[in-house]
Amino acid sequence: MSAVLVVHGGAWAIPEELAQASVDGVKTAAREGSSVLRSGGSAMAAVEAAVRALEDNAVFNAGHGATLNIDGEVELDAMIMDGKTLASGAVSSVKDIANPVSLARAVMEKTSHAMLTGRGANLFAESIGFSTVPADSLVSEFERKEWELRKKYMKGVAEDFKLKLAHDTVGAVALDCAGNVACATSTGGIRNKMVGRVGDSPIIGCGGYADNLIGAVSCTGHGESILKVTLARLILSHIERGKSVSEASQLSLQTMGDRVQGAGGAIVVSPSGEWAATFTTERMAWAAVEHDVLWFGLEPNEKQKEMLHQ
Ligand code: GLY
Repeated sequence: MSAVLVVHGGAWAIPEELAQASVDGVKTAAREGSSVLRSGGSAMAAVEAAVRALEDNAVFNAGHGATLNIDGEVELDAMIMDGKTLASGAVSSVKDIANPVSLARAVMEKTSHAMLTGRGANLFAESIGFSTVPADSLVSEFERKEWELRKKYMKGVAEDFKLKLAHDTVGAVALDCAGNVACATSTGGIRNKMVGRVGDSPIIGCGGYADNLIGAVSCTGHGESILKVTLARLILSHIERGKSVSEASQLSLQTMGDRVQGAGGAIVVSPSGEWAATFTTERMAWAAVEHDVLWFGLEPNEKQKEMLHQ
């Protein structure tokens, strides 16, 4: 079984000033995740490592660099899912956690629940000695400036997406050498969201899903639209009915556009190692490692490659 790892840095109208850093960031995260797989690590460990790298990079909307809510605060959501057992863990509306994906994994492994939110998630973090950071340390200079600028005239998150100002989410999917798949997704949500708003990212079947019998998906895009069509599970349903991972992603994103006028993107890997990175927004930074090749792209239909060990 040949291992595969795919990451995305969010589907949105990525401005020129963030384009190169976004591509560099997903390539770095893909290398991190694939090195876990190459050393015999599990798909779960690989997606966690890749998403941590994206959360630590302030160019992306997750962990450091997350977008701010209407009160100018960070509120983070994340999930992780193991395709072997269908176990999952998630956190929502956490404020002072630099790597929510790891706290989501701890929810999965150390509690009998699937999601903890807000204060409860923080109490749990404290109870297991999970490290916290000052919430303000997660705010990037770029995001503080954007928030100051947009809050003057933004009425709501829907306008943010119409005006293509949204800044969205990170994720990873992996297939390991033992044939197990996993997914992880992490986000700051949507700029100017209401306090306590939770989008698709931590919701199983919407922001992500993993099942060894079908494949693993991580989604990005307008959360309220993704929730309406349960995008991750919709993609897997098409695969169950015989579509390729690429066809299944395209069909599902088209359904989201047609039915609820939502734009977004998805990365997918199947148990046989077939993978895809698909989006209906202007751009999505993505990278994938398969054998010794690092694939990456930003624009629609762009697929570049370089050898992994360059
Ligand atoms: N897709 C991320 C969010 O809407 O929160």
